[in-house]
Amino acid sequence: MYDGGKVIIGLIVLFIICTFPFFYNMGRAAKVPEPKLDTPAIKKLPEWERVCVQPTPWMRANHMRLLDHWRNWALREANREYIGFNGKRYTISLQNTCLNCHSNYDKFCNECHSYMGIKPYCWGCHLQKPKEWAKGELKEGR
Ligand code: HEC
Ligand code: HEC
Ligand code: HEC
Repeated sequence: MYDGGKVIIGLIVLFIICTFPFFYNMGRAAKVPEPKLDTPAIKKLPEWERVCVQPTPWMRANHMRLLDHWRNWALREANREYIGFNGKRYTISLQNTCLNCHSNYDKFCNECHSYMGIKPYCWGCHLQKPKEWAKGELKEGR
């Protein structure tokens, strides 16, 4: 025989566990991340070239995997050239390519990451800002 009461309590507990992340995030959902694209390097591009190395939806879902590939290609295969979906050639470099266009780390990358509670461990070694920043040629916040 089934104990109907226990089954129902079990279902309620299961429901709470499954929906907890949803309720837990409800308060925060008001401030959806809005990664900003208004950096000097991106503004300099003509409008039809204002794209990423791959289409945006793909980048949104796969940039972390792409960075893994970039590291492996650069370090294991000594290949530092990447051909983007638009046929353009890019140098494989986190700092000097990704973060040259996306030089506003806090308002771009971190806009999403802090929302998601992600802290990539890259920045103990890599600079978050492009080399111009390290040389003092870019103002903070760019
Ligand atoms: C322990 C130090 C360290 C950490 C942590 C680290 N890297 Fe690197 N990474 C290096 C070094 C050293 C190189 C080689 C630099 C070179 O030869 O250009 C490199 C190269 C790379 C490259 C290819 C070349 C370049 O200049 O961009 C990519 C892409 C890369 N790392 C991505 C990442 C990402 C993404 C993370 C975090 C998830 C990360 N790395 C964390 C040390 C580190
Ligand atoms: C030539 C400049 C340029 C380079 C280099 C570049 N990006 Fe982008 N990226 C852009 C632009 C412009 C967009 C937005 C395109 C659009 O709105 O269609 C974008 C979009 C993105 C997005 C999606 C943002 C969103 O709103 O969902 C991510 C993530 C991203 N880039 C990460 C990276 C990473 C990681 C690298 C290096 C592997 C990189 N980008 C290299 C210019 C660049
Ligand atoms: C549109 C939102 C968004 C933008 C913009 C964005 N990221 Fe991410 N990033 C994410 C999400 C979400 C994850 C976690 C995905 C997962 O765990 O599968 C992530 C994961 C990563 C990781 C792997 C971290 C880990 O610990 O596994 C790296 C490295 C990374 N992002 C680098 C960048 C860099 C560099 C930029 C800026 C050039 C950037 N991201 C911009 C949303 C974003």
